[in-house]
Amino acid sequence: MKVLIINGSPRKGGNTAAALREMENVFREEGIEVRQIDIGTEAVRGCIACGSCAKNGKCVFDDKVNEAAAEFRDADGLVVASPVYFASANASLVAFLQRLFYSIPFDTTMKVGAAVAAARRGGLTATYDELNKFFGISGMPIASGQYWNGIHGREKGEASEDKEGLQMMRTLARNMVFLMKSIALGKKEYGLPEKEKRIATNFVR
Ligand SMILES: Cc1cc2nc3c(=O)[nH]c(=O)nc-3n(C[C@H](O)[C@H](O)[C@H](O)COP(=O)(O)O)c2cc1C
Repeated sequence: MKVLIINGSPRKGGNTAAALREMENVFREEGIEVRQIDIGTEAVRGCIACGSCAKNGKCVFDDKVNEAAAEFRDADGLVVASPVYFASANASLVAFLQRLFYSIPFDTTMKVGAAVAAARRGGLTATYDELNKFFGISGMPIASGQYWNGIHGREKGEASEDKEGLQMMRTLARNMVFLMKSIALGKKEYGLPEKEKRIATNFVR
């Protein structure tokens, strides 16, 4: 089984990374393959609504978004983690996720999603909500933990002192592994749920 981690933070060894390290330890203990993509210092363009992805199955900007898409295709789970900037996920990560989720040509149904946020003080749950929405529109069950997955810290490394936050990350990772394994069993036993042809109305007709 494989988990893809996308880290939005530009800070190497920062607080988002500390939260992810805690999760990664659990994944490794449980024999889960981990692939991490850091996008915080990348010059990430926003979606330009060109529609080229609908024809070509990939984003017109051939950067880490397409690299992540290739990893996401065969992953059983996706962790998206962000530092909180103005009570939101950081802008590069939002641009990245909008292009990723808009351009992927494959079905993400029953890939498990988990959202993580790191902040000095405020905006954790707003960011958590924002990130979970990418999973909610994609048929992805959302893994939860013992709280709303957030960790506190301002300076690099401070999150390592947030014992409750670190425990949240371990719990989240364990729950995520359980969900991924259960879904794999369920797929074998019952197959994926039936899918109807998508109806898309634009509130006009
Ligand atoms: C542009 C910017 C905006 C920020 N906005 C918030 C905020 O709204 N709330 C908060 O608690 N911390 C805010 N912070 C602090 C970071 O969320 C905090 O330092 C976090 O630990 C950074 O994670 P990292 O070390 O993984 O990059 C902000 C930091 C920056 C650089």
